[in-house]
Amino acid sequence: MSAGSLPQQLPSGGLPGPGTPAPVSAPPSTPAPPSAPAPAPAPPYAPPRSVTDLGACFFYHSMDLPGFGEVTGEWDLRPGVADYLGRVDFAGKRVLELGTADGFLTFEIEKAGGEVVSYDLDSARSLDLVPFARRRGSPVGSSGVDFAELIPRMNDAYWLAHAALESSARIVYGDVYSVPDAIGPVDVAVFGTILLHTRDPFAALARSLPMVRETVVVTEDHGRFLLPEVLGRLRQRLPRALRRPGMRFIPDWRTSTEPEGWWRLSPELLQAFLGVLGFEASVVIRHAQLYRGAPRQMFTVVAHRTVAGEPGERTGREHG
Ligand SMILES: C[S@@+](CC[C@H](N)C(=O)[O-])C[C@H]1O[C@@H](n2cnc3c(N)ncnc32)[C@H](O)[C@@H]1O
Repeated sequence: MSAGSLPQQLPSGGLPGPGTPAPVSAPPSTPAPPSAPAPAPAPPYAPPRSVTDLGACFFYHSMDLPGFGEVTGEWDLRPGVADYLGRVDFAGKRVLELGTADGFLTFEIEKAGGEVVSYDLDSARSLDLVPFARRRGSPVGSSGVDFAELIPRMNDAYWLAHAALESSARIVYGDVYSVPDAIGPVDVAVFGTILLHTRDPFAALARSLPMVRETVVVTEDHGRFLLPEVLGRLRQRLPRALRRPGMRFIPDWRTSTEPEGWWRLSPELLQAFLGVLGFEASVVIRHAQLYRGAPRQMFTVVAHRTVAGEPGERTGREHG
């Protein structure tokens, strides 16, 4: 299903289920009722905003937008988006896409037939900034990036693209540690390069995963912390004790750093996190994505629920 074929606005209760009959058109003799404005979605979903000024928007991803043409962002995930999303079949799935930014992944999941709830911050208030982070040459405390200005412009990009692509996705604003239960349940949750920006990535996963019925997709940057592909394969042959899950703390006050990056997370660590949250069956996909025109090594962990219930109460295995 293409995003363009989806209805513009949904009732607040969500998408109709698969068995919902299609609306029946009125007989020709009946005058058409005046078209009522679509109802605004109820909280926690944010009401749609009309944004038409491309210049006001910040696009994180390159995208093709009907009526606007190609917009350019630092990341061009278009050629490798299937790998980025873990090659999951989204058709008919209800999906929570966390850290949506300008919505690129949301709109791709919609194109693949998913019904999406996007999630992101709507202000810099809840961003986990590294204390005293600075860019090289900047005074202490000055990151060079004004997140208070950037995040609303990224939200604007979402709404501009949402209208251009006639998306039906809904969005909830908030921080990843307080995703409201009212969003759930969902079949799939997607965490696209959001965990490296969180001070507590385990808590970020643990908040949403109880509402996920089937699959979690986590994509992160490989970074220098992780071994190149060929060595990574050899590493798989090492005894388990020698390939312990790891995470590296990125900030270093001596060399300066970016204020919004906390961790390089290894695939094994994410598999371990997801395992203790009830998603024990996982695979790792390694891929390259275009960042500022050059390939950058990334990986995606796709994990399937094997244990039902809330974390801590092992109520039974769903598979295996
Ligand atoms: C690097 S961008 C990733 C965009 C997209 N998901 C992708 O994979 O290309 C990180 C996104 O996570 C959001 N984010 C960062 N910290 C967050 C937090 N604590 N709660 C919610 N969203 C957060 C940012 O606003 C941003 O949109």
